[in-house]
Amino acid sequence: MKSIRIYLILFFVACLSQFSFGQISGSAHDFNNENWNSSGEICIVCHTPHNSNTTVAGAPLWNHQVTSSTFTPYTSATLDATAGQPGASSKLCLSCHDGTIAVENYGGRTNGSEIISGNDLVGTDLSNDHPISIAYNTALATTDGGLNDPSTANSGLGSTIANDLLFAGQMECASCHDVHNGGGNSNLLRISNASSGLCLTCHNK
Ligand code: HEC
Ligand code: HEC
Ligand code: HEC
Ligand code: HEC
Repeated sequence: MKSIRIYLILFFVACLSQFSFGQISGSAHDFNNENWNSSGEICIVCHTPHNSNTTVAGAPLWNHQVTSSTFTPYTSATLDATAGQPGASSKLCLSCHDGTIAVENYGGRTNGSEIISGNDLVGTDLSNDHPISIAYNTALATTDGGLNDPSTANSGLGSTIANDLLFAGQMECASCHDVHNGGGNSNLLRISNASSGLCLTCHNK
């Protein structure tokens, strides 16, 4: 009886770890089974424990070729912030998603041919995309009037918007997306966008 109970508990724990939480395994960023990745590893396409690429400040042990494109940032008549060239983690995303560098160009490789196309291609023209690499702080929220104060508003993920969604105070691709599929939401979103929940985390509309 006791051992059956233990097996049942183990079974439920296994189910939880398989289905309840998001994980990179099996997600769009799991390149383990690609014919160009003979390592049998998931992380290696983006990270390495040694000899990492340090050309982007703050990049976490980066192992992928980094884009050198010049990007066209978002502008509008009503935008209060100013979006500059992508910084920090956004540049890492764009090293595959701007369509100039092959997905399999990691670990020093530069001659790959798998270029992202279709919907997943963001490109180098960011003027039609949600602004990124902008400072999002209390002052911006006050000026804008339609944004929650990131230093006090709850993200729904355990802490404030600033702690959970910003990178050195900046809004980046990874403010909305979890590259590791941590939330398990569609489109690798950090927060589900059902009823525009993701948007309403920051926008007070
Ligand atoms: C497709 C590329 C990609 C893959 C594959 C990937 N990562 Fe990341 N990882 C990133 C990017 C981009 C960042 C920076 C953005 C961020 O922090 O969300 C990052 C950040 C991190 C960080 C620091 C921030 C944090 O989330 O704690 C850790 C640790 C990390 N990754 C570990 C891993 C491990 C372990 C694996 C494999 C199981 C992995 N990553 C697979 C792209 C990737
Ligand atoms: C090593 C290259 C690489 C990096 C780095 C990378 N991606 Fe991707 N990403 C891909 C590829 C390839 C796909 C398409 C996979 C497919 O459709 O099979 C993809 C798919 C996606 C998707 C669609 C997911 C889905 O479920 O359809 C999103 C969203 C995304 N990436 C966001 C990001 C963000 C945000 C970052 C940075 C934090 C990032 N990616 C970094 C290669 C990369
Ligand atoms: C303000 C939040 C937000 C930011 C910032 C953001 N995304 Fe997205 N992204 C989304 C949402 C929401 C979707 C789901 C599809 C949709 O609603 O258009 C999405 C979809 C995607 C997709 C899947 C293909 C598609 O268009 O449907 C990719 C790839 C992607 N984003 C990459 C990126 C990259 C790379 C960056 C940074 C340059 C970025 N995203 C910045 C919210 C964001
Ligand atoms: C992590 C916080 C955050 C999330 C999530 C977010 N935004 Fe934003 N958004 C901002 C900030 C900050 C600005 C810059 C506002 C400014 O400077 O005027 C902005 C700008 C915009 C703008 C441009 C405003 C202008 O005046 O040109 C629109 C439109 C917008 N967001 C819509 C959305 C939508 C739709 C979603 C959900 C898919 C979303 N946002 C998700 C923080 C966020």
